[in-house]
Amino acid sequence: MRSSPSSPTGARTRSRTPAPSSRTCWHGRTSRPARPALAAVLADGTLIGSVAVWVDSAAHRRGEFGYVFHPRHWGRGYATEAAEMLLDIGFRTLGLHRVTATCHPDNVGSWRVLEKAGMTREARMRDHKLARGTWRDSLLYSAIDPTA
Ligand SMILES: CC(C)(COP(=O)(O)OP(=O)(O)OC[C@H]1O[C@@H](n2cnc3c(N)ncnc32)[C@H](O)[C@@H]1OP(=O)(O)O)[C@@H](O)C(=O)NCCC(=O)NCCS
Repeated sequence: MRSSPSSPTGARTRSRTPAPSSRTCWHGRTSRPARPALAAVLADGTLIGSVAVWVDSAAHRRGEFGYVFHPRHWGRGYATEAAEMLLDIGFRTLGLHRVTATCHPDNVGSWRVLEKAGMTREARMRDHKLARGTWRDSLLYSAIDPTA
């Protein structure tokens, strides 16, 4: 994994995570300044997904991240690579103490990614989201940097 030339804060970042590969680049986008996203791009220029990490509470140094990848590129470890990078940006660049992510309980691929990235399942949040008129539970995962 290579660090983004333009991180969500505009600062350069370097990943602490050992690079699993040099397959991907992460390009900053600024269309939603409150939730800056990075485009995941393969070395050949193919756009394969979008990821974001943002601050929920600056006072409490809490943040959250999310990701989506094109189905053609699922199952190759890209989301896990992204989750590790987003945690690194959250802790090292944004200075967060606690970073969370949520996913639907049936989304095994997503909660596997969060667990492979070293996050801890904290809860199943009941009726957390209203999706097309139906209440849906979410799993809550977190990671803490005790030094931040
Ligand atoms: C969830 C998502 C991000 C995963 O991306 P990915 O690049 O395939 O993830 P990775 O390859 O890094 O890892 C996926 C893991 O889940 C596992 N997995 C995927 N589907 C699974 C299933 N139905 N049952 C069991 N394990 C499954 C894979 O085997 C892999 O684990 P492994 O390395 O231990 O074998 C991708 O499917 C996606 O973008 N989905 C649509 C949007 C979405 O759900 N976003 C997250 C919202 S919370």
